[in-house]
Amino acid sequence: MSKIASIFDLETLARERLPSVLFDYIHGGSEQQLTLQRNLDDMRALALRQHSLRNVARRDTATTMAGDPARIPLAVGPTGLAGLMWPNGECEAARAAADYGVPYCLSTCSINSIEDVAEATGKPFWFQLYLMKAQRVNESLIRRADKANCSALVLTIDLHTQGKRWADEKEGLGVPPRLTPRNVLEMLTHPRWLAGMAGSKRHNFGNLEHEIEAGKSVGSLSKWIEEQFDPTFDLDTVRWVRKEWPRKLILKGVMHPDDARSALEVGADAIIVSNHGGRQLDSAPSSISVLPQIVEAVGSRIEVLFDGGIRTGGDIVKALGLGAHACLSGRACLYGLAAKGRDGVHCALELFEQELQDCMMLAGLSSVSEVPPGVVTAQPPLGARR
Ligand code: FNR
Repeated sequence: MSKIASIFDLETLARERLPSVLFDYIHGGSEQQLTLQRNLDDMRALALRQHSLRNVARRDTATTMAGDPARIPLAVGPTGLAGLMWPNGECEAARAAADYGVPYCLSTCSINSIEDVAEATGKPFWFQLYLMKAQRVNESLIRRADKANCSALVLTIDLHTQGKRWADEKEGLGVPPRLTPRNVLEMLTHPRWLAGMAGSKRHNFGNLEHEIEAGKSVGSLSKWIEEQFDPTFDLDTVRWVRKEWPRKLILKGVMHPDDARSALEVGADAIIVSNHGGRQLDSAPSSISVLPQIVEAVGSRIEVLFDGGIRTGGDIVKALGLGAHACLSGRACLYGLAAKGRDGVHCALELFEQELQDCMMLAGLSSVSEVPPGVVTAQPPLGARR
């Protein structure tokens, strides 16, 4: 591909480079993928009002997210197994984010470990925590994130059980992917991916492999993790984390104003309105559709971040216009990583910034901290008089 013009080009390149079991893992959602599709459809159904008689020569895209500087209002969100998409994938993505000047969030289910990423970037990053049934592991992960000087802990609250992704089950996704005849053939016919992975520092869940006995054998750790998601997780669990974690605490997976109010009550510093990119409760509404009611409930008292369906700079403006303080990107940056490693994540961030700048100019906006609500509307029906 000669020129990468959009995130969708990175998606195409990722599809070409990865064995299908890995591309489908990134791209897909749970069950019928209704929520995944809603995230995309509802974002696109929103209209941006054009304002053409304003001087927009000066524009400010910078902000802070949970206290950390962000050159554009977008962080690289947590995605598991990124290190299977590109050798040392989490370190590469974290470096791209640090060089670009946006926060990076490392997943609990990463291939590179907390310590690998700390060493690779030398800058504070965020750590996303899945709480496990094994309390000893939770305590250890929190301690390690603290020691690595992570500036924020992103506690994901929507994983009482893992959403079923039918393609992953059928294709044998795991760490490593099951060696079915199809997967072996796919790996052999994607030699660039295969050669890259051979040189990767790790091939297992870097944060967990030394925490438990099962971690010693590649393969059994995936099974252990699946059994560890804890259905007893509730507000008391969050209170415990708040007590243990000294710095910023962000709750990820808020889709209801009640949960947003609870986040305030337990002293969280920020929330992420998110349905996990349509990978958990299938049939949940799109995250953009519930954003306004959550902003109304708590927006003046806590930082409201947003993810789900962000593929262009205009999508960021839509989320800001509906009251989000800033956004996170899951798949878009992961497509970049899978396509071109660190350069691909950089490319995704650059595309977002260019599109954000263009969108601000055309919509008559000078600052990301002042996107008035009227900028975003539902597309008026044809023939409506206004
Ligand atoms: C995710 N997501 C996620 N969230 C989380 O808290 N911990 C994790 O380990 C993961 N892993 C993960 C893997 C993959 C492949 C995807 C696509 C997503 C959810 C992610 O952080 C984010 O909420 C969504 O991806 C946002 O939607 P978009 O930007 O992908 O549309």
